Amino acid sequence: MSRIVVTGANGFLGSAVVAALAARGDEVTAFDMAQGPALQAAAARFPNLRLVSGEITEWQHVVELLRRAEPDAVVHLAAIVGVVNSMAAPFATMRVNIGGALNVLEAMRLLGLKRFVNMSSEEIYGDFESARITEDHPCRPVMPYGISKFAVEQLARDYVRLHGMECIHLRTCWVYGPGLPRPRIPKTFIDAALKGEPLHMASGGDFRVDQVYIGDLVAGVLAVLDKTDHRFDAYHIATGASPSLREIVEIVKELVPGADLSIGPGPYDFGRGIATVRKGALDVSRARAELGYVPKYDIRAGIAANVEATRRALAATA
Ligand SMILES: NC(=O)c1ccc[n+]([C@@H]2O[C@H](COP(=O)([O-])OP(=O)(O)OC[C@H]3O[C@@H](n4cnc5c(N)ncnc54)[C@H](O)[C@@H]3O)[C@@H](O)[C@H]2O)c1
Repeated sequence: MSRIVVTGANGFLGSAVVAALAARGDEVTAFDMAQGPALQAAAARFPNLRLVSGEITEWQHVVELLRRAEPDAVVHLAAIVGVVNSMAAPFATMRVNIGGALNVLEAMRLLGLKRFVNMSSEEIYGDFESARITEDHPCRPVMPYGISKFAVEQLARDYVRLHGMECIHLRTCWVYGPGLPRPRIPKTFIDAALKGEPLHMASGGDFRVDQVYIGDLVAGVLAVLDKTDHRFDAYHIATGASPSLREIVEIVKELVPGADLSIGPGPYDFGRGIATVRKGALDVSRARAELGYVPKYDIRAGIAANVEATRRALAATA
């Protein structure tokens, strides 16, 4: 049993990580500025889960959180997430993503806490130089989100070098599954298919990106927490494959017969003139060798699980 603080605990990843940690008996403190029904239901179910409401950019909130919890590790997930959100709010992105992480690192340093497990992103790489990249790929992030995520990694390395902390960065890619709060493929196509609504995108079908099912992401976080000595400070928690968006739409159509979906060829952009950088697959050899991490969900299995969960959720609200 460990004592773990999870920041961003109300989010898509955070709520899944909190539930998994609490279910296996860890003492979990879930920190977020919001506390939705799922988190509250988890707190009612698990006596070893404590909810703390607070703002990651507020020094007092962060110090008080860590002083009271005295965690063995902090899993840091709180952030303004996504390229589009960061373009809409670049100052807030820097304040929350970099300032928030610095509050956690500084408070940990002052309190003598050692383990910081940070959720990073494939956006730290900028344009991928090849179809599948390792953790040694150069980091040339563009746009505020990727820049903020890379800044946190680099700042944390100072805390390792100068203050003897242990900071591990999990670089994941497009995480999907039930509960994703943002409109993104495959969610948008799964939702449309199950509601019987048409969805036709003019372009984007040739875009390839590693898509990680939420269950695999959680398994990766637990594997990093459970390993005591890390030789590396960054791991890809992904699948090692990069299906095209066209392949994804085809899988949804197979799983939901009669779905009226299509996607045209060409690159993908986020809209509002924000093009994606070139992406691809994240090689997971290091995580496999060091952590025993083996993704269980290829894209077909992940979409099938997501379709079933969405079907159940729609039936429950009908
Ligand atoms: N979802 C993905 O595909 C993906 C991919 C790569 C990396 N990540 C990283 O994983 C982490 C979690 O992402 P997510 O998808 O769960 O996002 P999310 O938006 O669902 O969750 C983020 C959480 O952080 C909280 N938060 C934001 N600002 C805060 C503040 N100022 N104070 C306190 N709490 C605050 C939000 O309330 C939210 O619950 C982020 O660090 C993100 O960069 C996510």
